[in-house]
Amino acid sequence: MTGNVTFTMIKPDAVRGGHIGAILKMINDAGFKIRAMKYTQLSPEKAGEFYEVHKERPFYGELVSFMSSGPIVAAILEKENAVVDFRTLIGATNPAEAEPGTIRSLYATNVGENAVHGSDSDENAQIEGNFHFAQTERF
Ligand code: CMP
Repeated sequence: MTGNVTFTMIKPDAVRGGHIGAILKMINDAGFKIRAMKYTQLSPEKAGEFYEVHKERPFYGELVSFMSSGPIVAAILEKENAVVDFRTLIGATNPAEAEPGTIRSLYATNVGENAVHGSDSDENAQIEGNFHFAQTERF
């Protein structure tokens, strides 16, 4: 299945803004199948672990604090060419640079509070999906 799955989180800003339904509809309409999904809140420790690769970046503290500030929706999505197609659907990390009609252009606030996460490689899709979901939670 490698190459056909990606991992996403609808981030606390988009959840607070009431955009879960609209974002899930865009994901469905783009042809992604939901293989796993949960509504949960990350502790600061878990958020720090998830974003460990960014530990040395100046925005790490802000990122961890934001990602643990409220509930998120985490999901594993399946589609041919999932990682690349999902990144096209969500748009650039900075919403000011995101193509019109993308999820971030519609719902993100700024580069830190950018509505959704999408894995940047097949390898990270596997790692990130495993971080959030047991095998028994995947369908
Ligand atoms: P995400 O795709 O979840 O992966 C890493 C996150 O770091 C990214 O989305 C942004 O939300 C965040 N990020 C990247 N650059 C910055 C920045 N300059 N300031 C604050 N947050 C950032």
